[in-house]
Amino acid sequence: MNTMRAVVADRYGPPDELDVRDVPVPHLTDGHVRIRVRAVALNPADWHGVVGRPYIARPGIGWRTPRRAIPGTDIAGTVDAVGGGVTGLAVDDEVFGFADGGGCAEFVTVPEANLVTKPSTVSFAAAAATGVAAFTALQAVRDVARLKAEQHVLVNGATGGVGHFAIQFARAAGCEVTAVCSAGNVIAATAMGADHVIDYSTSDFTSGPIRYDAILDNPGSHPLRACRRVLEPGGSYVLIGGSKASLLGPIPRLIAAKLLGVVSSQRFDLVFAKETAADLDVLRTMLEDGSVDPVVSRTMTLEEVPGALAEIGRGHTLGKLVAHP
Ligand SMILES: NC(=O)c1ccc[n+]([C@@H]2O[C@H](COP(=O)([O-])OP(=O)(O)OC[C@H]3O[C@@H](n4cnc5c(N)ncnc54)[C@H](OP(=O)(O)O)[C@@H]3O)[C@@H](O)[C@H]2O)c1
Repeated sequence: MNTMRAVVADRYGPPDELDVRDVPVPHLTDGHVRIRVRAVALNPADWHGVVGRPYIARPGIGWRTPRRAIPGTDIAGTVDAVGGGVTGLAVDDEVFGFADGGGCAEFVTVPEANLVTKPSTVSFAAAAATGVAAFTALQAVRDVARLKAEQHVLVNGATGGVGHFAIQFARAAGCEVTAVCSAGNVIAATAMGADHVIDYSTSDFTSGPIRYDAILDNPGSHPLRACRRVLEPGGSYVLIGGSKASLLGPIPRLIAAKLLGVVSSQRFDLVFAKETAADLDVLRTMLEDGSVDPVVSRTMTLEEVPGALAEIGRGHTLGKLVAHP
């Protein structure tokens, strides 16, 4: 077979104008594995990559047209072919891991080092869902906030991709977790493991009496000084995401958080997630032993991906959205 179905971004623009069409199957090179994609999870990064904003990101995502013409990094599937020098994987192995784009397609080529075998008890959808969002939450909890047992952590934006993993990793670290989400997701937040839930449409977590040892902030919806007020002395604020402003996106808040971290007794920091082979192994083990349980709120066909990316751009996704090419 020489062609495959794929979601294609020929130019920057609204995601719902993306094309779904036949394109050549990617060429296999040494050290790479060609995957028949069974599931690809979508992320806000895919939205940024197809709309081309914030503009300050263009050196990385492509100046005039998307560098990754086919979105999608978090993939799970079966090995279709192996390139020269690949020693650890064979045709028909079931794997998951991270591609450099190209996942919203029937086939994608991925370096062998970016893949692990999928536990047989875990679905392709759940494995693909345990991608960028899970790496981000793991590194925010373990490396940046450095959460310890019995600390009280607030997760703002708790039921989205990153947030629902953050609840689970914080609970696994022995923390008490307060989740902040919209009214419609309160039950979901409890099911994801939160001890307490704040509905942001009726309560403002920064005006309550409780002080937190850590705040993991996905939407960046409150001024930093307000977050600081509800942090324990010596507590940690971790910025994960935020503004979709066209020019600079979350950069101004990022700089402000860094500066506040210099002058404050509290720690203000940010997470810049890295997908590494070592953490892919950690996540694989957690999937296998059931200590992480990704929530896939909806699955879809490739044809439905443009609409789903537009939805992700609106910033109210529950768990993960996953396509089955
Ligand atoms: N730093 C990094 O390395 C890194 C890596 C991955 C992602 N990110 C960024 O992190 C952010 C979250 O990513 P994601 O994958 O979790 O996105 P997502 O799946 O789209 O989730 C967004 C979440 O934000 C919540 N939310 C929206 N407005 C809110 C508000 N005013 N108050 C509280 N919560 C609100 C939504 O909850 P409701 O549905 O209940 O409104 C939803 O749970 C994005 O900005 C993304 O770009 C950063």
